[in-house]
Amino acid sequence: MDDTSTILKGREIILAICGGIAAYKSADICSKLVQRGDGVTVAMTRDAEKFITPLTFQALSARPVHTDIFNLLDSSDPQHISLTERADLMLIAPATANLLAKVAHGLTDDLVSLIISASACPVIFCPSMNNRMWENPINQENVTKLANLGYTFLGPEEGWLACRNVGAGRLSDPQSIIDEVTKMLGDPAAMPKPVGPALPDIPAAERRKIVAQGASPGLQTRRKTAPEGASQFHPRAPHAFATKLHSGQRVGVACKS
Ligand SMILES: Cc1cc2nc3c(=O)[nH]c(=O)nc-3n(C[C@H](O)[C@H](O)[C@H](O)COP(=O)(O)O)c2cc1C
Repeated sequence: MDDTSTILKGREIILAICGGIAAYKSADICSKLVQRGDGVTVAMTRDAEKFITPLTFQALSARPVHTDIFNLLDSSDPQHISLTERADLMLIAPATANLLAKVAHGLTDDLVSLIISASACPVIFCPSMNNRMWENPINQENVTKLANLGYTFLGPEEGWLACRNVGAGRLSDPQSIIDEVTKMLGDPAAMPKPVGPALPDIPAAERRKIVAQGASPGLQTRRKTAPEGASQFHPRAPHAFATKLHSGQRVGVACKS
C-alpha cells in the first residue's frame, strides 16, 4: 500500500456523471478511487445513462447508484442532503455544458444539480465538451461565475475530441484527476472549501459520525451559533429547517413539514 492509499483510506467521495461522451472514462475514475481506499457513491444525470449504465458503477463502487431525485435509495435521506454531509468532496466528471449552466443559474431539476446546490462538501468540476461549446461565451461566463463563487475546476485539457476536432474541451486524464484529488485530500491547505452557507469547518469524518446518529451537522452548528430566542428547532426533523435573513443575520427557522 502506497502513501496515497493511506490518504484516501476511509474518505467518502461522491462521483457525479453527466451525459457527455467522456462518461466512459468515469468508470476508470471510479475504479481507481475504490482501489485506493475511497468509499465512492455515484450519482448520474438522466442523460448520463444514455452513455453508460448505472450497473457499471454499482459493480465498481459496490454501492447503489443514485439516478433519480424521486427514487429514494435511502429512506432516511429523502432529499439526498446527508449524502453530501457525509462526503469529503464531490467530483463531477464529466461535467457537461448543460450541467454547468444549470448550476450557474440555480436550477435543480436533476439529481446531480440538486445535490450540488445543497452540497456541504467541496465540489470539483471536470468539464468535457466540444471545443466550440467550451469556448462559447455563455459557457465561459458560467464557468467564470462558478469559479468566482468558489467551485473548483480541473481541466479541460487541449487535445483530440470525440467530435474529431482538436482543441480545448477534453476531459483531464483520469489519473491526473485522481492525483489532484489525492493532493487535496492529503493537505488541508489544498482542499477547496464548500460553496454557500454550508457547514463551518467540521471535518468530514466528524460530520459522518453526526449523520450516522441521525442528526444534521448543520442543525448542530446553527444551534450553537443562532442568537438566543431567534430560532425554534425541531430536533426530530434534522433537515426540516430553512435559513432566512433576520436582522441581518442568518438564523435557522423551523419548517412546518
Ligand atoms: C454523442 C453525444 C455526445 C455528447 N457529448 C457531450 C459532451 O462531451 N459534453 C457536453 O457538454 N455535452 C455533450 N453532449 C450533449 C449532452 O448529452 C446534452 O447536452 C445533455 O442534455 C446533457 O445532459 P446532462 O447535463 O443532464 O447530463 C453530447 C450529446 C451526444 C448525442
